Amino acid sequence: MLDQIKLSGSDLAFRPLGVGTNSWGPSTLEGARDALAASLEAGIELVDTAEVYGFGGSERVIGEILPEPGGDAFVATKFAPFPWRLGSSSWRRALTASLERLGLERVGLYQVHWPFSISSIEALMDWLADEVAEGRVGAVGVSNYNAEQTRRAHAALAKRGVPLASNQVNYSLLHRAPQVNGVLDTCRELGAVLIAYTPLASGALTGKYRPGALPSGARRFMPAFRRLAEITPLTEELQAIGRAHARSAAQVALNWLARQEGVLPIPGAKNARQATDNAQAIDFEISDSEATRLDEASRRWR
Ligand SMILES: NC(=O)c1ccc[n+]([C@@H]2O[C@H](COP(=O)([O-])OP(=O)(O)OC[C@H]3O[C@@H](n4cnc5c(N)ncnc54)[C@H](OP(=O)(O)O)[C@@H]3O)[C@@H](O)[C@H]2O)c1
Repeated sequence: MLDQIKLSGSDLAFRPLGVGTNSWGPSTLEGARDALAASLEAGIELVDTAEVYGFGGSERVIGEILPEPGGDAFVATKFAPFPWRLGSSSWRRALTASLERLGLERVGLYQVHWPFSISSIEALMDWLADEVAEGRVGAVGVSNYNAEQTRRAHAALAKRGVPLASNQVNYSLLHRAPQVNGVLDTCRELGAVLIAYTPLASGALTGKYRPGALPSGARRFMPAFRRLAEITPLTEELQAIGRAHARSAAQVALNWLARQEGVLPIPGAKNARQATDNAQAIDFEISDSEATRLDEASRRWR
């Protein structure tokens, strides 16, 4: 069982895994309902969404299926810093709309979705500190920020006495950039959790896809799926380690992330089976030598 992880700015400590909801929307309502129930049942609390997922559909579905306002779920959503959103009154309206869709008066974690904006990081953080003071936001996070941008966000919030809770970035065995671009070290230094998105490389690390057996839809054109033959030695290693622990390849890939200090993966789950499988990825621990085997098999993606 892996240790809990503390989110700065929140009183809560979490099991080091959440559930991603990018694929949830009105057309997948039942799968989402089952996946949320299975996640909560398995002790997973952090539910990650964004106002842009399904043009608000993901937030709307979460609002509909939360057991009761808030309930046991800790909801994290994201603000999109679109260039046409000029100034704090339009930013405030975006948060109001997210809260309405979610059916909440306060969101646990509010993240700026990406750093590209015509407004400065400092101005956005100043507004978010106001929202914390007003009680509509519990903790403040960022997403897709590089090390320097993370430091700027942290410094701007610190001036207002608000901690930077997290930076959500692409991090998996097929995308190990945070280990070498300074983002992981910076998060650790600043006490911010690194929330790892696409931790299963959109499903490529589960071992269920092979050359000739690709997923349907746009995913088959993603680099990870176009180079499935190249990643086969890695997925075979995940499966071999999984067999030694009676676990799935997906669980091993998630465990490799969650065992790292300050890292919290948010795998997407489309149904209860996937949600339960993922939640159980932190009930065991791969050994140091198994982690080293995975480091070696994924070295080219550092
Ligand atoms: N901040 C950002 O810019 C950003 C960007 C992207 C994503 N995200 C967040 O990260 C979350 C996760 O990303 P993601 O869902 O795109 O990718 P992911 O977690 O790497 O992969 C999820 C996909 O893998 C498959 N899967 C999941 N669990 C499985 C299991 N136990 N066994 C077998 N297959 C399994 C499912 O697809 P199939 O069953 O169809 O294969 C599922 O949709 C998103 O929901 C979102 O919250 C954030």
